[in-house]
Order: sequence, then structure tokens, then C-alpha cells
Amino acid sequence: MKNSPQTIQLLWKGQCFDFPLVQGSEGETAIDIKTLRQRTGLITLDQGYANTGSCTSSITFMDGERGILRYRGIPIQELARGASFKETAFLLIYGTLPTPGELVRFSEQLTDYSPVHENMRLFFQNFPPNAHPMGILSSMVNSLRSFYPELANADEEIQVTVPRLLSKIRTLAAMSYRISMGYQVVYPRPDLSYCANFLHMMFDSTVKPYELKEEVVQALRTIWILHADHEQNCSTSAVRLVGSARVNLYAAISSGITALWGPLHGGANQAVIDMLEGIRNNGGNVDTFVKRAKDRTDPFRLMGFGHRVYKTYDPRARIMKGVCHRLLQALDREDPLLDIAQELEKTALSDDYFISRNLYPNIDFYTGIAFRAMGIPTNMFPVMFAIGRLPGWIAQWLESIKDPHWKLNRPRQIYVGPGKTMYRPPTKGLDMEQYS
Ligand code: ACO
Repeated sequence: MKNSPQTIQLLWKGQCFDFPLVQGSEGETAIDIKTLRQRTGLITLDQGYANTGSCTSSITFMDGERGILRYRGIPIQELARGASFKETAFLLIYGTLPTPGELVRFSEQLTDYSPVHENMRLFFQNFPPNAHPMGILSSMVNSLRSFYPELANADEEIQVTVPRLLSKIRTLAAMSYRISMGYQVVYPRPDLSYCANFLHMMFDSTVKPYELKEEVVQALRTIWILHADHEQNCSTSAVRLVGSARVNLYAAISSGITALWGPLHGGANQAVIDMLEGIRNNGGNVDTFVKRAKDRTDPFRLMGFGHRVYKTYDPRARIMKGVCHRLLQALDREDPLLDIAQELEKTALSDDYFISRNLYPNIDFYTGIAFRAMGIPTNMFPVMFAIGRLPGWIAQWLESIKDPHWKLNRPRQIYVGPGKTMYRPPTKGLDMEQYS
């Protein structure tokens, strides 16, 4: 970040206040209002934070107008083409791609930390059968601190806790699925890659051993790379905000998982499938649903469409569409929901309502179809997103705790409630004794 020689002036009550401008490495410019309240008594009001930068960051660059997404400067398309998920996680967390030696060490750590404490299984068994896997995952990640208490110092804490969490989340996610189905837990295999190991723990069984297909492993690798970070989105902001109170990493990540669960965020992949199934069950007429999405009196929205930052086609959605096609082809499978999704996309993208509002498919529009083809149950879709997003959350948490300008996150508000009102005891006839 560099300070710009220019300033911006605010005229207020006959006085002129100068505020500095700061510039990011890709030319983004911000007004630095750190001293605004102190000097003028004013605050800014920006519901939804659409115009507010909450931090400076060197992890991910995205340009919503031009459809650009880069991790540590590397375009997402290149990582999706050639990198492993492990390398991508390392890149996000530690700032550079790993050397061969670093990659071996990192892989060993992920293997060493993959089993979870046996007592955690008892925990799982006490959730009701219909508990949503996101609720289970967020609780289990939070409870990791009780099973793996704090280490001696901050450096050791980071060196051990980061790979431990990256490794265990995959084991916990697979366990939550298997226990909810009443299946036996499958243990991780040290010889498998990060993505293959997850599929093995999800689907292997003594009755029918799971055949690891390279196309499925590659599709999962791509999906997780595409999800790995997305700068200051809702769940990442939750991780940073909760982390700003200096809670431990597990607690901060658990709050990110909870935020991601919502249908407007990571729960959208599940909501897209529910919507596509709804269209199919109603005879497959996409026009009716597009009409409903445009009706301001109807709360229905096209799930998997629109994005706070992208005002053009989400570059991740473009890659995802190709992944879906290749996966279905490789598995020799057809999915009527893919046809409906494509028709819906075509109809919406030629409709003035969507064009004028820059509403395009986002990443969640096609991921659900790929997860279905892999055999992942619908309620596990947001969990799949959470595993992919974990490296980004960790990187952002690490960056925030090392930030020399770190502050407890504490926004202000404009109060619009009643003015000072005197306390009046409850209405006559009530026996006040019972409240005392
Ligand atoms: N379907 C129909 N209309 C939409 C949609 C949609 N999916 N998304 C936005 N709009 C309309 C709004 O009604 C609004 O119309 P108006 O100007 O007539 O009032 C306009 O487009 C702007 O919408 P906002 O809600 O102000 O945009 P915002 O940036 O706040 O919302 C969001 C972004 C939440 C993602 C929204 O587009 C949405 O709800 N999409 C569906 C859910 C979804 O797919 N979420 C996943 C996002 S990606 C991710 O988190 C991984």
C-alpha cells in the first residue's frame, strides 16, 4: 500500500478537512478515514459494507468488473489447470508456492495430523440423526481446542495448529457424514493425496470398496482450488472479526463455517439443487421461475445467480461449468438438472432484468451438479465448500493477527430508537412481588 500525494476534502460546518488517499498494488484507491470521527464528530454509514475496506491484504486480488481472481498474484485459471490443492493451500497460507522440500514436509504434517481423537467419535454420536452437517462441523471444529489445547508459544501454535486443522477438517467432515448414515468410520490412508483421501474416507466400505477415479479426484481438486479464498467475503469477514477479539484459530474458523452455512453464501450450492429440483418437479418450465425471481413481491431469487463483487461472469463459474461437463462425460452419466441449469442460465442472461443488474451465474450455480455426480449428499455441499475455503480463512486469520495496525473490530451505529424514556412499572393488577 502506498500513500497517494492527493487528498480528498470534506466540507463540514464551514470547515475543510483533508483526508489522505491510499492505493493498492492494482491501483484500487481508498479514502483513509481513520481520523474522521476524532476530527469531525462524523461516522460513515455503509450497510452491508459494500463501500468499506476493512483491511489491507496481500492474499487475494479480485476485480469484479473485469472478472479477475488471483491468489498471491497467480490467476485462478493457472492454479486450476496445474496446481494441487495442497500447493494452493500452502501458497495462500505461507505466501509463496512451496519448494519440493517444503511440499514433502507439508504433506507429512497433513498425514500425521489426519486421525482425530477417538473420544471425538462419542461427541458425534450425540447429535440427532437429522442434524445438518454444517452445524456438526462448526461444533466439532470449535471443540478441537478442548482436545488439542494451546501450545507453549505463538510460533509453535501456528506451526502445529494450521496443518492440524487443515488435515482434521477433512476427517471430521467425512466422519460426520458416515456417522449420520450409521456407517462405520473409515480412517485416512497415508498414501493418498488430500482430495483422494477425503473421497476414500467418505465412500470406502468393506461391502463395496470405493474405486478412486482420477476424473473425480481431479474435479474435486479443481473445485477446492476455486473455493480456496475470495478476499473479504461474509465468512472470511466473520473469521477476521471474531479473530480480532484474539480467540484461538479453531473458534475463529468455527464462526466462518457458521457464516458460510447461510443460503445467501456457501449454502447457495445446496439451495441451487433444491431450486433445480423444484423446477424439474414442476414440469421443467424455467420461465415461471425466472418470472418469479423478477417479481419484487415474491421473495424467490435465482439461487446461484448474482454476486456482491462480480458484475460480470464469475471466472470460477466458467471453470466450474467445464468441470461439470467433463465429470459427467467421464462418469458416463447424464443429469437432467444440468440441462435445466443451462436453460435457466440462457434464459436469464438474455433477460433485461438480469442484464441490467449484472446478474450472472456464480460459482455455486454449477458446483452442486458436480457434487451430485460424485455421490455427495446435498446437505454435505456447504461442508464441501467449507473444506475448500479453509486455507483462505487460515491465511486471512494469520494475516490479521500479524497486522501491525491490528485493532479489535468494533463498528459503530446510528441509533434510531426512542429517546430517553422513564421507566414505568408494569400495568395495574400485576403482582410485583412475583418479579422481585
Ligand atoms: N435473483 C433475482 N434477483 C436478484 C438476485 C437473484 N439471485 N440477486 C440480486 N437480485 C436483484 C435484487 O433483487 C436487486 O434488485 P433491485 O435493484 O430491483 O432491488 C438487485 O439485483 C441487486 O441485488 P442486491 O441484493 O442488492 O445485491 P447484493 O450484492 O446485496 O446480493 C447476493 C448479492 C446476496 C449474492 C444476491 O445476488 C443473491 O441473493 N443471490 C442468490 C444467492 C446466491 O447465489 N448466493 C451465493 C453468492 S456467491 C457466494 O457467496 C459463494
